[in-house]
Amino acid sequence: MEIIVKDTVEDMSKTAARAVARILNAKPDAVLGLATGSTPLGLYKELVRMHKDEGLDFSQVTTFNLDEYVGLTQNHPQSYHYFMHENLFKHINIPKQNIYIPSGTTDNYAAFCAWYEQRIQQCGGIDLQLLGIGSDGHIAFNEPASSFGSRTRIKTLARQTIEDNARFFDTLDQVPIYAITMGVGTILEARKIILLANGKNKASAVASAIEGPVTSMITASALQLHRDVLYVVDREAAGDLKMLEYYEWIQAKMVDAP
Ligand code: GLP
Repeated sequence: MEIIVKDTVEDMSKTAARAVARILNAKPDAVLGLATGSTPLGLYKELVRMHKDEGLDFSQVTTFNLDEYVGLTQNHPQSYHYFMHENLFKHINIPKQNIYIPSGTTDNYAAFCAWYEQRIQQCGGIDLQLLGIGSDGHIAFNEPASSFGSRTRIKTLARQTIEDNARFFDTLDQVPIYAITMGVGTILEARKIILLANGKNKASAVASAIEGPVTSMITASALQLHRDVLYVVDREAAGDLKMLEYYEWIQAKMVDAP
């Protein structure tokens, strides 16, 4: 795992955007796994800027989103479909048919989940998966006790996640209880993973994921089993890391590494 600590959310977002751009420049038809939430907003803003000012091209890119709330229609302001359209897709030149987001309104979830997994395979697998982290250490909507072998499926959200995400809804009751989400097993198959985290409320989850035991109680800890993971976090989210000095030492020395 590589751990980069940035002083500001803006630096965090720009560092991640540069990593995405490097992949797209090397492989213009890359398959990206995308995340929602407030954390990647700055990253998407920067990708949009790079598209407009520097010609970053998405014309051959395919995307698969991690998750969606069950029961929210695509034009519901809190649906992840709506989020992605508003914050990224409508501003870049990605063809509509290359965008995949789990459906929160299908009448056959089992069939949809199997099809979603199959589409990822048919598109060649995910080259780069972007992730945030829940305050309970979840990735996508893989709540505590999600199997590391799990695939795209329906999950019941944890109380803490419902409370965390209530800030986007008018009342707690409006937060959906179920979500459709890629599994931990699906995520681990991505060739490269970048996890972003900012803010004090993520410090404990980030420390558990990076330095704690590998446990399905903190599904982000599964990333310790992946061979190409980059954490880009701000100083607040890095606040509980015991080996922080070491990670910063590595970053400083990397420039001259053989
Ligand atoms: C939701 C999403 C996750 C996201 C998490 C953190 O639970 N399913 O993919 O990482 O929220 O969200 P935020 O970035 O808003 O803190």
